[in-house]
Amino acid sequence: MSLLSALSIVCGLMLHVSYSAPNTHYCVPRKTVPYQNELKLFKEEGIFNYSTMLMRDDLGVLLLGAREAVYALDIDDVSVKKDAVYWRVTEEKQRECTYKGKHAEVECRNYIRTLHRVNDTTMYVCGTNAFSPICDYMTFVNGQLRLEGRQEEGKGKCPFDPFQRYSSLMVGNDLYSATSINFLGSEPVVLRSSDLALRTEFKSSWLSEPNFIYMDFVGESFDSPDGDDDKVYMFFSENAMEYDFYSKVTVSRVARVCKGDMGGQRTLQRKWTTFLKARLDCSLPEPSLPPIVQDVFLLKDEQDWRKSVFYAVFTPQSSLSQVSAVCAYRVSDIRNIFNEGKFKTPVAVETSHVKWVMYTGEVPVPRPGACINTVARNMGMNRSLDLPDKTLQFIRDRPLMEEAVRPLTGGPLLVKRGALLTRIAVDSVLALDGRRRAVMFIGTENGYVQKAVNYAGEMFIIEEIQLFEDPVPISILRLSSRKGQLYAGSEFGVIQMPLSNCSRYGSCVDCVLSRDPYCSWDLATQGCSSVHGSSPSSGAALQSLEEGDVTQCPRLDPAAAVDFNLVPENNIQLPCQLHSNLARVLWRFSDRTLHSGDKYYIYDGGLLILGASESDVGRYSCDSVELINGRAYNRTVAVYRLRLDPGAAASATAVTTPGVQVTKSSNSVPGPRAATPAPDDEVDEDLPPSAENQSDAGKVTRLEVAVALLSLVCLGLTGVVFWTWTQGRTRECFKFAKRTGEGEVKRQSAEYMHIQNRTSEIKFLGPLPGRPGSANNNHSAVDFKGNGEHHFTPMANISSLDGLGYINDESEI
Ligand SMILES: *[C@@H]1O[C@H](CO)[C@@H](O)[C@H](O)[C@H]1NC(C)=O
Ligand SMILES: *[C@@H]1O[C@H](CO)[C@@H](O)[C@H](O)[C@H]1NC(C)=O
Ligand SMILES: *[C@@H]1O[C@H](CO)[C@@H](O)[C@H](O)[C@H]1NC(C)=O
Ligand SMILES: *[C@@H]1O[C@H](CO)[C@@H](O)[C@H](O)[C@H]1NC(C)=O
Ligand SMILES: *[C@@H]1O[C@H](CO)[C@@H](O)[C@H](O)[C@H]1NC(C)=O
Ligand SMILES: *[C@@H]1O[C@H](CO)[C@@H](O)[C@H](O)[C@H]1NC(C)=O
Repeated sequence: MSLLSALSIVCGLMLHVSYSAPNTHYCVPRKTVPYQNELKLFKEEGIFNYSTMLMRDDLGVLLLGAREAVYALDIDDVSVKKDAVYWRVTEEKQRECTYKGKHAEVECRNYIRTLHRVNDTTMYVCGTNAFSPICDYMTFVNGQLRLEGRQEEGKGKCPFDPFQRYSSLMVGNDLYSATSINFLGSEPVVLRSSDLALRTEFKSSWLSEPNFIYMDFVGESFDSPDGDDDKVYMFFSENAMEYDFYSKVTVSRVARVCKGDMGGQRTLQRKWTTFLKARLDCSLPEPSLPPIVQDVFLLKDEQDWRKSVFYAVFTPQSSLSQVSAVCAYRVSDIRNIFNEGKFKTPVAVETSHVKWVMYTGEVPVPRPGACINTVARNMGMNRSLDLPDKTLQFIRDRPLMEEAVRPLTGGPLLVKRGALLTRIAVDSVLALDGRRRAVMFIGTENGYVQKAVNYAGEMFIIEEIQLFEDPVPISILRLSSRKGQLYAGSEFGVIQMPLSNCSRYGSCVDCVLSRDPYCSWDLATQGCSSVHGSSPSSGAALQSLEEGDVTQCPRLDPAAAVDFNLVPENNIQLPCQLHSNLARVLWRFSDRTLHSGDKYYIYDGGLLILGASESDVGRYSCDSVELINGRAYNRTVAVYRLRLDPGAAASATAVTTPGVQVTKSSNSVPGPRAATPAPDDEVDEDLPPSAENQSDAGKVTRLEVAVALLSLVCLGLTGVVFWTWTQGRTRECFKFAKRTGEGEVKRQSAEYMHIQNRTSEIKFLGPLPGRPGSANNNHSAVDFKGNGEHHFTPMANISSLDGLGYINDESEI
C-alpha cells in the first residue's frame, strides 16, 4: 500500500512536469554537441568577467579585457597568452567607492569595458575604476603589452557601474560612447569625444532610462546620390513614451547620428542636431509586451551598404516568458524611416499628461535630423552650425519617428524557447552553389552557442554547441571569418571554437543532412570536409543546403545484423542511437512496427523488451526517420537478431546476456550489464557502431531504463492520456511564405520571407527526446547531455516518442 502511494506521488510529480512542459515547439537544433575539453580555453586564476574583446588580426592577437586585467592572446590559439597588463584600482579609490555605498570586492574594482584600435600599434582602453572611470592608451609592440600611463577622464566614455550595459565605437580618432555620465547612473548620454565634442540633450524625450546595447558605423556617404553623410547607428532599450496605458513599458530602439554633425549655433549648441530614433519591432508569435533588444550584429555587405543587415537578439520583458527571438533589419529600411518617415510630436492632453501622436503639420526645410546633404548645401548650409533655428527646434522637441522599423522578414527570423539568447555574431559563407549564406552564432545564458541559418524562409539550427562546462551566460561573441573562429567570453573565461567542424559528420547522409554551408561531402576522400579547405573542384563534393537532398550520396551497405542471445523472463535492452535531434525512431520486429506499451518500451537510447520469451526471437531493426524540408529520410541504424540462448533456460542468472538485460521479477533495474555480442557465425561485415562496446551505453541509460519502467507503471496507474503524436507535423522552425514583389524584394526572397500561418506552423509536438550519451556511436561527441534547452523531462521524453500514439485509445491502456 505504502509502495503504491509512494508511486502515485512520484507519478503525480512526473505528470505535473509533463503538463508544465511547453507544448509549442520552437526551433530545435539538429545536433547537440556537449562540452568538449579539446576547445581552446583561456582563463586566469583570480580574474573574472572576460567580457571585452578587440580583434587585432593585423597584430595576430585577440585583446581581452577582464576585471583588472587586459590580455594579448594568440588569435589562433587563445590559450596562449602573449602578454598581460594588470590595472588594479588604488586602495584610495576603492575606499572612496565603498564610502559611497558600493560593494568593495564587486563594484569597487576596475572592469575593463572599452578597447578600441587607435592606430597600428596603439589601443584606447577604459575601465570603471571603482565608479570613477578612466582611460589610457595601450601599445602592443614586440610582443609586449603596455599601458602608456597617459590617463584621461573616462566619464561618459565608460560606465561607472560595471553591471550597466554600454556601447562604444571608434571612428577615425573620434570615440562614440553611450552610457551614463554620472555616479548615480541617472544622466544617460550619447557622446562623441573629439575635437568638437557633442552629446545628447538631457531630456527624457531623447533618452529615458536607456540600456545601451550596440553601435556601428555605416559609410552612407559612399556613392550617395543626395550627397549624404556617414552615420553611426545605435541600439538600446528605454522607457516608452508613446504608450500611455502602462505606467512603464520598455521598448527597443534604433537611433542614429551623422558623422559630420557639429551641433547647432544657438539652439542645440554642442548637442547632436541629427539624433533620430525609432522603435524596433520584433513581434513574438504569442501576445506579450514588446521584447527587449539584447545584442546586435551588423553583417556588412562589402559592395553595397544598403544591403547590410542588422541582426538583433531579443528577450522577453517579462521574466515569466522564456521565448527569445532574432529579428533582422536592413540598413536601407532603417534609413528610409529616418530620411522620409513621419515624426511623432507631444501633445498635452488634460493638464499635465502628454501624449505622443503623429505630427501632421509642416516639416521645416532642411529636414530636421537630416545630415548636411545636397539640399542643405544648395541652401548655402555647409555645416550643421548653419542650420536654421526652426529646423533645430523641431528636432530638439521631436526626436522620435512615428513608424517602427519592421524586420525584413516581417517577423522574427528565429524564435527559441528555453535558455534565453544573449549575444549574436553572423558570418557570411560562400556555399558550394556560389551563393552567400548568413550563418548566425547565438550565445545563450547557459553557455551554449546555437548555429543557425535561414534556407528559403525556413530557419534551421544546424547545431548547438556547449562552450562552457558550467551554465554561464555568454557575455561576448566575436567572430573572425578569415580565421574561421568564434570567440566567446563569460565570467569565467574565453573559449575559441571553429566556425565549423565537418569531421563531426561521419557519413555522407549525415553530412548532407546537416545542411551546414561550411561543409560538403567529398566523394573522393569519402569524408565530410570544409568547403573552403578543399580545392573547388566542383562535382567532386556534395552539398544540398535548401533541399537536404541525399540521393547523390553513395549507397551505404545495409547495417549488419548483430546477434544477441535471449534469456527468457528477462528484460532486454537493444541500443539504438540516432544521429539527429530531428529524427524519430522507428523500431520494427519482423517488419511489424513496434509501439511502446505493455510489451515494448521505446526510449531515446533504444528499445526495451519486457519479459522476453521465445516468441520474441527474430530480427529487430531500428530506423531513423528524419524530416528535413518536409521530406522524410529513413535510415536503418541498427539491426539485431535475437536468438534463444540454449544454455540460459536452466539458469536465469546466466551472464551471456543479450543486449542489456534487466531482470523482470522485481521491476527494479539492477545495473545493466555490458552486452557482449554473441559469437557471430554468419555476419562477417563490420559491426555497426552501436554494438562495439556497450558498457558505457549501459551506464548512461540505466537511469533512463528506470524511468522507462516507472513511467509504464505510472501510465497504468493513472490511465491518463496526456499526449498524442500528431502525424504529419514537421519539426521545422518558422516558415516564411514567399513574397513576390518588385525586383529588390525578389532577390532577397530566397533568403528572407514573410511569416505566414505563424500560429499553425509553430504548434509542434513537445520537446524532442534527449539522446543520452553512448560510447558506441560515431557521433558520441554530439550526444545529448541534457542542457535544459529542450525542457527535457522524463515524461516529456516519453510523450514525444511516437510509440505512445496508440494510447489514443484508452481501452488499450
Ligand atoms: C598612434 O597613436 C598614438 C596616440 O594617439 C600616438 O602617440 C602614436 O604616435 C601613434 N603611432 C603611430 C605609429 O601613428
Ligand atoms: C564578475 O564575475 C563575478 C564572478 O563570477 C561575478 O560575481 C560578478 O557578478 C561579475 N561582475 C559583473 C559586473 O558581471
Ligand atoms: C559652402 O561650400 C561651398 C563649396 O565648398 C562654398 O562655395 C560656399 O561659399 C560655402 N558656403 C558657406 C555659407 O560657407
Ligand atoms: C571536431 O570534431 C571531432 C569529432 O567529434 C573532434 O574529435 C575534434 O576534436 C573536433 N575539433 C575541434 C577543433 O573541435
Ligand atoms: C519511411 O518512414 C515513413 C514514416 O515512418 C514510412 O511511412 C515510409 O514508408 C518509410 N519509407 C521507407 C522507404 O522505408
Ligand atoms: C569496452 O570497454 C571496456 C571499458 O571501457 C574495455 O575494457 C573493453 O576493452 C572494451 N571492449 C571492446 C570490445 O572495445
